[in-house]
Amino acid sequence: MRWPTVLLGFLAVALAQDSSTESSQSGTTTDGTVVSVTTPVAIPSGTYQEFTTTITLSDGDSSVIASTTHYNGTMTASNQTAVTTTSDSLTLLVGGGGGGTTVIGNNSMNATATTTGTATNTPVVNTRPCNNYPEFCTRKYSNITMVATHNSPFIRKNSVAANQALDVTTQLNDGVRTLQFQTHYVNGTMYLCHTTCQLLDAGTLEEYLTDVNKWMRRNPYDVVTFIIGNFDYVSPENFTTPIYNSGLKDLIYTPTKVPMALNDWPTLSEMILKQKRAVFFMDYQANQTAHPWLMDQFSQVWETPFSPTDPAFPCTQQRPPGLSKADAKNRMYMANHNLNLQLNLGSLSMLIPNTAQLDETNAVNGSGSLGEMAQECNTTWGRPPNFLLVDYYNYGNFNGSVFEVAAQMNNVTYDRKCCGKTSGALREVSVAGMSTVLLVAVGVQMVMSAF
Ligand SMILES: *[C@@H]1O[C@H](CO)[C@@H](O)[C@H](O)[C@H]1NC(C)=O
Ligand SMILES: *[C@@H]1O[C@H](CO)[C@@H](O)[C@H](O)[C@H]1NC(C)=O
Ligand SMILES: *[C@@H]1O[C@H](CO)[C@@H](O)[C@H](O)[C@H]1NC(C)=O
Ligand SMILES: *[C@@H]1O[C@H](CO)[C@@H](O)[C@H](O)[C@H]1NC(C)=O
Ligand SMILES: *[C@@H]1O[C@H](CO)[C@@H](O)[C@H](O)[C@H]1NC(C)=O
Ligand SMILES: *[C@@H]1O[C@H](CO)[C@@H](O)[C@H](O)[C@H]1NC(C)=O
Ligand SMILES: *[C@@H]1O[C@H](CO)[C@@H](O)[C@H](O)[C@H]1NC(C)=O
Ligand SMILES: *[C@@H]1O[C@H](CO)[C@@H](O)[C@H](O)[C@H]1NC(C)=O
Ligand SMILES: *[C@@H]1O[C@H](CO)[C@@H](O)[C@H](O)[C@H]1NC(C)=O
Ligand SMILES: *[C@@H]1O[C@H](CO)[C@@H](O)[C@H](O)[C@H]1NC(C)=O
Ligand SMILES: *[C@@H]1O[C@H](CO)[C@@H](O)[C@H](O)[C@H]1NC(C)=O
Ligand SMILES: *[C@@H]1O[C@H](CO)[C@@H](O)[C@H](O)[C@H]1NC(C)=O
Repeated sequence: MRWPTVLLGFLAVALAQDSSTESSQSGTTTDGTVVSVTTPVAIPSGTYQEFTTTITLSDGDSSVIASTTHYNGTMTASNQTAVTTTSDSLTLLVGGGGGGTTVIGNNSMNATATTTGTATNTPVVNTRPCNNYPEFCTRKYSNITMVATHNSPFIRKNSVAANQALDVTTQLNDGVRTLQFQTHYVNGTMYLCHTTCQLLDAGTLEEYLTDVNKWMRRNPYDVVTFIIGNFDYVSPENFTTPIYNSGLKDLIYTPTKVPMALNDWPTLSEMILKQKRAVFFMDYQANQTAHPWLMDQFSQVWETPFSPTDPAFPCTQQRPPGLSKADAKNRMYMANHNLNLQLNLGSLSMLIPNTAQLDETNAVNGSGSLGEMAQECNTTWGRPPNFLLVDYYNYGNFNGSVFEVAAQMNNVTYDRKCCGKTSGALREVSVAGMSTVLLVAVGVQMVMSAF
């Protein structure tokens, strides 16, 4: 999913670094573990911002968390109310202005009951909270299967190095809730580039996250996950500034311990009520002592083989190396399901998305399909993957088939329209396309020989 898209001399160095960086931080944060959430018995009136909930921590401390301190902006115009009912488990209620109160997060309710009830003048975009499925509100973050876009920012038209056709805002509108991307340290700044910035430069990390922040403010009931590929193995301090500057800072979720096992995760309701709903993982060089919220991905999320060229998509555990089966079963995991083609051009060998087979790769069923892999992983591990990492998420055996697979894993119904306007970036890798590859490849070789 991150390197190696170009396998050159530096790969050996990268591999060496790979094994030296697998150790994870230990220790826990000072937050304590959330054991119960006590909420007012009576349904309070007032706006969402005024709502408070009492969180009881395992060390006996209680803290009152007011949504007001975390969220300000478009919500003020929306006349939303959010209350909770049950005493020891969170159930989120959202009332739309003028309409009746709508209950969400109660599994015995009709999910569709929540699609109405938002005031017409509200700038809040989504009317189906908890990542489009009210059923998820009471479920733990670790008990949900999400579609994850591989190399989410790489949407360059007519580039074989692109991985997606639609921009990040469209991805989020369509239901993607996990964004994976590769970062490069250039000129003292974190850029989003595919392999090198000469090959595909999608701008700075800060610009990209600023767009995501805008979306998250308009969609206050959604939890979004970021999986950062730290391609250059730079220190985590290089990431904190662009993340904070993007505006996401107050939404960042901080785990209660390291590592987070399956049962340690909060429910989506808890994350949404506390407005701590931006979840950050980084594959290498995370330091949770210095930045508890910038989580070491492989301490909490393992992966099946990455950058696969094998359409069999085995469900075997690959990264981190050496994880015991017992630990793997007690962690979240990601199914890498982006099929690659290996291009060999002289000394350059690179992997690019195999777009010609997307109708099979992203399909609900059939040989080499996402659906087949998800089923197989569920059989192997006793639970479905948490993340389904795909290229060109909007293609499949029908538009939106990747979301159908996630819905099947989640035991919910996918009935949304997919997908946003296409930018037309998808092109099959054909002989005609090879000249583009070749031109790009020559550029890369020049860059590489300068290393
Ligand atoms: C919150 O909203 C109010 C009213 O629009 C505004 O005056 C205030 O500056 C905002 N605060 C922040 C931190 O954005
Ligand atoms: C907010 O909702 C309440 C209760 O439904 C309603 O009485 C009030 O008029 C609404 N206010 C606005 C500004 O829409
Ligand atoms: C869920 O909502 C239904 C209908 O309002 C109610 O009868 C039921 O008791 C609720 N269940 C829980 C667990 O809150
Ligand atoms: C659930 O939806 C079905 C079909 O729309 C409807 O008949 C039923 O009354 C709904 N139940 C509740 C509790 O809203
Ligand atoms: C959620 O947990 C239940 C019970 O352990 C399990 O059956 C289900 O497969 C899980 N779903 C996901 C998506 O993790
Ligand atoms: C880094 O700076 C050099 C020199 O100014 C410039 O040519 C290059 O385009 C910059 N790189 C990026 C990714 O902006
Ligand atoms: C970013 O990473 C580079 C390379 O590891 C390092 O030299 C630099 O000090 C880092 N910058 C910050 C702000 O940590
Ligand atoms: C992680 O951060 C802590 C606290 O800032 C620091 O003492 C430690 O050296 C860092 N670890 C690494 C590997 O940089
Ligand atoms: C997928 O499932 C459908 C409906 O069950 C079936 O008609 C179709 O043949 C299957 N496709 C493949 C490739 O297995
Ligand atoms: C999906 O959407 C694109 C763009 O609108 C379209 O070209 C394609 O044929 C659609 N169908 C499938 C099966 O992906
Ligand atoms: C996943 O496997 C469990 C049994 O291990 C089964 O109960 C469940 O239905 C499976 N989920 C799906 C979506 O097939
Ligand atoms: C899936 O949902 C249905 C209806 O909502 C329920 O009856 C069934 O038990 C669920 N299956 C699992 C494996 O949770």
